Parts: sequence; structure tokens; C-alpha cells
Amino acid sequence: MSNKESLTIRRPDDWHIHLRDGAMLEAALPYTARQFGRAIVMPNLAPPVTGSQAAAAYRERIYAALPDGLKFEPLMTAYLTDKSDANDLAQGFKHGVFTAAKLYPAGATTNSDSGVTDIANIHGVLEKMEEIGMPLLVHGEVTDPDIDIFDREHVFIHRVMEPTLNRFQGLKVVFEHITTAAAVDFVRTQGPRVGATITVHHLMINRSDIFRGGIRPHMYCLPVAKREQHRLALREAATSGEAHFFLGTDTAPHTVSDKESACGCAGIFSAPAALELYAQVFDEERALDQFEAFASLNGPAFYGLEPNGETVTLKREDWVVPESVTVADGSAVKPFMAGETLSWRLV
Ligand code: DOR
Ligand code: ZN
Repeated sequence: MSNKESLTIRRPDDWHIHLRDGAMLEAALPYTARQFGRAIVMPNLAPPVTGSQAAAAYRERIYAALPDGLKFEPLMTAYLTDKSDANDLAQGFKHGVFTAAKLYPAGATTNSDSGVTDIANIHGVLEKMEEIGMPLLVHGEVTDPDIDIFDREHVFIHRVMEPTLNRFQGLKVVFEHITTAAAVDFVRTQGPRVGATITVHHLMINRSDIFRGGIRPHMYCLPVAKREQHRLALREAATSGEAHFFLGTDTAPHTVSDKESACGCAGIFSAPAALELYAQVFDEERALDQFEAFASLNGPAFYGLEPNGETVTLKREDWVVPESVTVADGSAVKPFMAGETLSWRLV
């Protein structure tokens, strides 16, 4: 660890979040908006945000839920289906409603049932996106039940990612929440049109942690955490400063009762301490000098946006992640690393 006592960087952005809707949106949003200037908002609501009108309305609900005095810009995404309307996506992109479109292979994760059943079904849409420069954000896991859950990302690279990039040579693609050394290596073979987000939980836990002393549902997410060698590869990539890799928490709140269940939901709610946890990882890797590139510069550069103008400061100071966050409907959400003492604090 470095002996730096404080760290000031451009205000970061979160390039992958789940904000939900209604009472959960109101509970979750302040944590993200406190830290990040902008965030890419995932469209997997029920029903999913497939069209530009629905996205504009969702964006209004997000602004309405934003606490006074916080400046935050939600960047909206379209949920791709077998029947996505390329013209509506293009219009939404042109008018600044959509920043990108998200590919969920049908059945891959939470609220992905309306996702794409075969990439060939959206070739027309991808052609349009390539033409207009609209990024494709990919949940990179195959859904074939014969493929072991720990291999789904690796297999996706060869079955879907590689052929799609070859077919659409100008398409901008973000390989979301990468979890394997294979994905790190693959992204590095690509040019600047391919980026990857890395979550803080995949930098901090491996698959054994999910079962340490008993089953720990709050460490379960998709893609599921992999072996230690993969966690180490992700840490090396994130802290390398390379332009491909940028911050995306994939913070995904579910109520405690939905997580602590016979069939618990996938998703880790990291928003309450996200930036501080990433800072801790960079500190442990003696790479605080690369933190701003990962958190605040590489993402905007990929999306063709300016970095945020303001700065944020983190101080070396102990604090404890809250045990629980209360939602107005009476439910509760447990944050990632709840009850743990962290060594960096956002001022
Ligand atoms: O763990 C996850 N939770 N992975 C996803 O892809 C979706 C997310 C959610 O929406 O809960
Ligand atoms: Zn996600």
C-alpha cells in the first residue's frame, strides 16, 4: 500500500449500473449520484426498456428521484430483443435518449427472458448501430445449459463475441463485467473499439468466497465470480491504466428476502461503497497513480465524451460499510462488504 493520505481525481463515472424503479430507485440512486458524475443505466426492468419513449420516461423518473443538490446524468440504454426496431434505436441515439444498446442473451440473468435468442436475429440492428456509432454493451455469457456456469463467459468469446466483431468491423462493443483471464486477454487483442468494464466485486472475491463457511448469497452475481487466477488477472488489467478497461460496478440491488432465499437472485449491491472499494484495490496493488485512468478517463474516451470537469477527493480514513439500506416500501438491501471496515473514504 502507498503512504498517500489523500487522492484527488476527476469525478468518476460508473459505466454499468442497475437503478431499478420506484422505491428501490429512490433508495439506490443517492449512493451512485454521491460518487459518480454519470452512469450507464441498464434497461432490465420488468417490463424491459426496449424503446426510446420508455427510456425517456425512465430517465425522467430517475431525475425525479435524484436528491436536491446532487448533479448526476443518467445515460440510458436500450434492451435488445429479437424484435428490436433499428429505426427507433437510431432516432433515440440521435436525440440523445440512448447512449448505447444492451445485449442480454435470453435467459442469461435477471429479467433477461425477453433478450436475444440468437445473435443472428439482431444482425440488422447491429448493422445500423455500426453505421451510426452506437455502442453495443454485451452480457457475455452463453445460456446453453450444457455449458458449465463457470465456463459460460469463456465459451461466449469464441461462439459469439469473436464472430460478431469480425462481422461488424466498425461496431463499438463493451464486454461488460468481465470475469476471466480469457476475457482480459481477448479484449487486449482488439483495437480501441472494444472496451471492458470490471466490477469491484470481481476484483475482490473469487468463487471460493461465495462458499466460505457456508453459502453467501450476497456474493452471488452473474457472471459468477471465478477462480483466484482470474481475479488476479482482472486486478492486473484494471490497474494497468490501459484504455480498454474502465469502471463499471454492475451494482444490482435485490431485497434481502430475494437474496436470502431457496432460489436467491443474482446481483451485488456495491453502490454504497463502490469508489472506496475500488480505491482500496488500487492501493493494495500499489497502483493509485492509475486510478484516475480507470475510474474517470478511459470510459469517457471510449464513449466519445469529455471527462467530468469537477474532481472528487478520497482520504485515508477508516469507516464501516452500513449493514443494511432501508427501502421506503419496508424492505431492505444488504450492501457489498456490509459491516466491513474500509480504509478510504470519499470526502
Ligand atoms: O448479478 C447480476 N445482476 N447480473 C446481471 O447481469 C443482472 C443483475 C441484476 O439485474 O440483478
Ligand atoms: Zn448488470
